[in-house]
Amino acid sequence: MNSRPQVSSRGASAPFIAMEVMREAAMLSMQGGAHGKRIIQLAVGQPSTGAPRLVREAAARALEKSRLGYTDSLGILKLRERIAKHYDEHYGQSVSPDRIIVTSGSSGGFVLAFLACFEAGARVAIAEPCYPAYRNILKSLGLEVVGIPVGPETRWNLTPDLIADAERKHGRIAGVLVASPGNPTGTMLDATHLAALTASCEAEGRWFISDEIYHRISYGMAEATALASSPDAIVINSFSKYYSMTGWRLGWLIAPQRMMVPLDRLAQNLFISPAALSQEAAIAAFDASEELDANVAVYAANRELLLAELPKAGFDTFAPADGAFYLYADISRFLRADGNADSTEFCKRMLREIGVALTPGYDFDTERGRQTVRFSFSGATADMAEAAERIKSWLG
Ligand SMILES: Cc1ncc(COP(=O)(O)O)c(C=O)c1O
Repeated sequence: MNSRPQVSSRGASAPFIAMEVMREAAMLSMQGGAHGKRIIQLAVGQPSTGAPRLVREAAARALEKSRLGYTDSLGILKLRERIAKHYDEHYGQSVSPDRIIVTSGSSGGFVLAFLACFEAGARVAIAEPCYPAYRNILKSLGLEVVGIPVGPETRWNLTPDLIADAERKHGRIAGVLVASPGNPTGTMLDATHLAALTASCEAEGRWFISDEIYHRISYGMAEATALASSPDAIVINSFSKYYSMTGWRLGWLIAPQRMMVPLDRLAQNLFISPAALSQEAAIAAFDASEELDANVAVYAANRELLLAELPKAGFDTFAPADGAFYLYADISRFLRADGNADSTEFCKRMLREIGVALTPGYDFDTERGRQTVRFSFSGATADMAEAAERIKSWLG
């Protein structure tokens, strides 16, 4: 036999374009910017702030005092208890720490949830546009993705009818994955709408997986957790966004009791445990609301600024942006056959010519993303103002 071993098709997932834009923006920055202009990063979805002070202090203490070995694969009990207390304080929901597993970011939570909930080949429905890794993780685990196009008619949300239609078209749907606030749209589901979705999933014996990673970043609309409407919902959350701890790689998952043994076994074998230092430090994150709410106030100001300035550059249609730190904008009017043929070209030119990095819509919607871009407004307000000025004169 002289044939070479083949690379598995599981690794052939689509690139995460936002990460590739981030790489190109970093390269341009190292080369001195775009035509001498400093690069302004509006492509990547992460807070520009570090972890809150209380978390950094707790981490310093843990470095001194703890051995920081492997932890329980479900996560350290003190952190699971603190997460349970947060559900009581913030949502008025009583959750036993026994139903909480600490994960390596919500990304680790998705892998555990998908493996524990679905047989290989099962169909899982997601809204399109959506966070691109949903599609790519599901596919790499051998699951079939049913992308359901959503738009302004349903405020960019899934509905029980849309899921039922998709099932008629594609066959049995074993689970539904929803994010509120969503990425890239920022759109939120109110409690009634969320309860309608969880009830329809319960009635059909489908898993309902609720990505609540952008909770606590919202601009007036009340947030609802799927835990309040369904004891069977799988809730996934993270320390990355509101808690401003992306690089600490820590999140959590809440599941019905009967899932805990399978989740624990998968976690033991796949990850052993989440990072001990991050866990020790994250306990303090729930006491850092003053500092973290101040970050959200900056996002709110950035959102106002962009919503006032971008229409002056010709951007006329945005998804509602109820929460998270994104604006999902239509760019059809800027597309031409002789340049800016699609969102990728539009974003590449914008980055190279005026040094502003956005994410092309293809990341979130493989079809209609041709004519959309995502602005991430998690940076400094001065950067938003500068980016808006550059874009206005570029498009003007
Ligand atoms: C909707 C959504 N879910 C999950 C994630 C993954 O976050 P992490 O693994 O850092 O918790 C992201 C990251 O951007 C996201 O936007």
